[in-house]
Amino acid sequence: MLDLIQKRRSTRKFTADKVEQEKIDQLLKAALWSPTSKNNRPWEFVVVEDSQTLEQLSQCKPHGASFLANAPLGIVVLGDAGKSDVWVEDCSIASILMQMTAESIGLGSTWIQIRLRLDEEGSTAGDNVKEVINAPENLEVLGIMAFGYKAKERQPYSEDVLLWDRVHYEKF
Ligand SMILES: Cc1cc2nc3c(=O)[nH]c(=O)nc-3n(C[C@H](O)[C@H](O)[C@H](O)COP(=O)(O)O)c2cc1C
Repeated sequence: MLDLIQKRRSTRKFTADKVEQEKIDQLLKAALWSPTSKNNRPWEFVVVEDSQTLEQLSQCKPHGASFLANAPLGIVVLGDAGKSDVWVEDCSIASILMQMTAESIGLGSTWIQIRLRLDEEGSTAGDNVKEVINAPENLEVLGIMAFGYKAKERQPYSEDVLLWDRVHYEKF
């Protein structure tokens, strides 16, 4: 596990290869088995492979989402605030577990932040995403996870970047 954590880097350039359904299922299992507060499981996941839909989603905010247009797969992560007051945490855990699972099966990934982000007209990125995927009103969008085969391997993290000074034992 630690090797995977050290090796995982955000991938924003993917090959043209599709992600096999078996691997998509593995990503979804990671999400659906993820822990949630009170086992509320307030998340919903929308799997997007259609290139036109991915293109539309890539325009939901001005920065940091454009590369989704050239990704073979995006999984939109939504939460139901009515089911859990900590849906953000629950959805975040599911998202990172999908990212780690992706790394373990030879896929690259990047988290695209949607919650709290706006477009240039001041609309929320979440509303833009919801319109594209026909999401029900009561759900909120946490983010979109982009997945695919890495066009290029990135350097794994080195020991040098570990911020050990952020770690405190017993008291600050
Ligand atoms: C909560 C969160 C939001 C992020 N949002 C975006 C985003 O909107 N667009 C993007 O390209 N990368 C996004 N990233 C990826 C970060 O930029 C990336 O993880 C960070 O620069 C460290 O690089 P690494 O993933 O290669 O370790 C996000 C990551 C996290 C954890």
